[in-house]
Parts: sequence; structure tokens; C-alpha cells
Amino acid sequence: MTNLQTFLDIATEAALAAGAVLQGYLGKLEDAITEKGRPGDLVTAADKASEAVVLEIIRRHFPQHSILAEESGKLGNQDNEYLWAIDPLDGTTNYAHQYPAFCVSIGLLINGVPQVGVIYDPFHDELFRGAAGLGATRNRRPIKVSDTSELSKSLLVTGFAYDRRETPDNNYAEFCHLTHLTQGVRRSGSAALDLAHVACGRVDGYWERGISPWDVVAGVILLEEAGGKVTAYDSTPLKIATGRILATNGSIHDNLSRALMQVPPLSAWE
Ligand code: IPD
Ligand code: CA
Ligand code: CA
Repeated sequence: MTNLQTFLDIATEAALAAGAVLQGYLGKLEDAITEKGRPGDLVTAADKASEAVVLEIIRRHFPQHSILAEESGKLGNQDNEYLWAIDPLDGTTNYAHQYPAFCVSIGLLINGVPQVGVIYDPFHDELFRGAAGLGATRNRRPIKVSDTSELSKSLLVTGFAYDRRETPDNNYAEFCHLTHLTQGVRRSGSAALDLAHVACGRVDGYWERGISPWDVVAGVILLEEAGGKVTAYDSTPLKIATGRILATNGSIHDNLSRALMQVPPLSAWE
């Protein structure tokens, strides 16, 4: 049986190669940017080229494994116990604007549980790696979550899914509520980097709705290995398929969960 270290190393090889592709296209996309369906949901030549590189490496090493990749969908035998969740460019909107917050995210679920994660931010050359029982690192050095324990002293990050114009469940009310309760709420535009930044202590917590497995599988195991906690909003076990995630340093988890369960309507701020 292949061990987790091998999966981690192959995922790292793929993330670094894909990151080089992203750096190569940065600022040179010209008209190679299109909308996928919803307004603002972009796809670029860089997303596709990066995904092709990741897929080639993962499939060459693990031809039996299942794959769920953002731009290609489900690939291979979907019954395999190993499922790779791949976002070849997380933060496409940032990337298209040359705003430096984007990454490659490669996660491995084994029997539905995140076990290996690699997130590579090529602009800042930051490589985040984590695997169950093997710890979490940034550029090969161990990382851990912050020790902020009060919500009023915390810095959070969140995001807004592309369906935000179509549903009142768009995270705007949550954003206002948490902005009042904390030192601030950031919106980076890359869910995978948000999780990596909780893992290395730059922010204390992250929540979002409308996320997909490729956005978070890598970050979930990375954060857990860095000492953080990941659940549903109500602190029950995470179910990735619901698209809702609450991820923190652990110390603010219960308070942030409680705050998310008691969000006043947007009209409260009028
Ligand atoms: C998006 C980013 C963003 C989050 C969206 C995601 P993409 O992924 O992670 O931060 O708010 O929900 O869809 O489209 O840049 O890969
Ligand atoms: Ca994404
Ligand atoms: Ca993407």
C-alpha cells in the first residue's frame, strides 16, 4: 500500500508544476478569459493549463484513483476509495486582475475523509503541506494555528459564492454580524488560501457557504494538522457536500459557531 508521504510528495510535485504554469500566464491572458455560466465565475487558459499539468502527474502515478477536478469534473473510476479533489487555480478572479491571492489546491480523500493536502501560492512561493499524522508545514517548516481565544480580538476571513446574486442565503448578513463582533473580516477570494492562512496563524477563523470539495479538501487536512478545528456552522461534523464550512484555530470555534447560528437579518443594519 502506498503511504501518505508518497501521496503528499506526488501532490507537491503536481502543485509546484501547476504553480509554474500559473506564474507563466500571469498578466498575459489577454482575451483568454471567459465566464462559465454565472456572472463573475471566470475560467481562463491558465485554469485549464494548470489542471492539465496536475491531471497528468496524478494519473501517471495513480491510474486507478478517482479524480474530481474543477474544470474537468469527475474522471476515472468513481468507486475507488481514493479521490483527488483538485482546484488548479483557486482565486481565478484575483488572478485575472493580477491581484496576488491565488493558488493551486490538491487534496486527497480516502474513503471520504481528507487525508492529504497541498496548497501552493506561486506568487509568494509559499508551499503549504499537510497529511494525517504527518503534521502541517509552510515551505517545509512546521506551522500551527494562532492562540487568539476571544472573538472580539480575532481576525476572520470569508468568501461569497458565485450564486450570491441569486439567493438571500449569500453570506452578507453573516459578514455584517461578524464584522461587528471581531477586529475585522477579510475576503481574500481564495478559499484554499483562507484555510492555509488559518493554519499558519495569520487569521483566526474562516467560514463560507457554497464551497466545493476542490476548494477545501486540501485545506481541511492542512488546518487539522496545524491544530485547528473544522466543522459545520453548528459545530457538528463537517459534511463537505453541504458546501458550508467553519474552520478556526480551535480556541474561538464555539463562539464563532454560536455567532453564526444567531445572525440578525441584514435589515438590522439599516
Ligand atoms: C472561489 C474562491 C473564492 C470563494 C468562491 C470559490 P475559484 O474559487 O475560492 O474565495 O469565495 O466560493 O468558488 O472560482 O476562484 O476557483
Ligand atoms: Ca475554487
Ligand atoms: Ca478554480
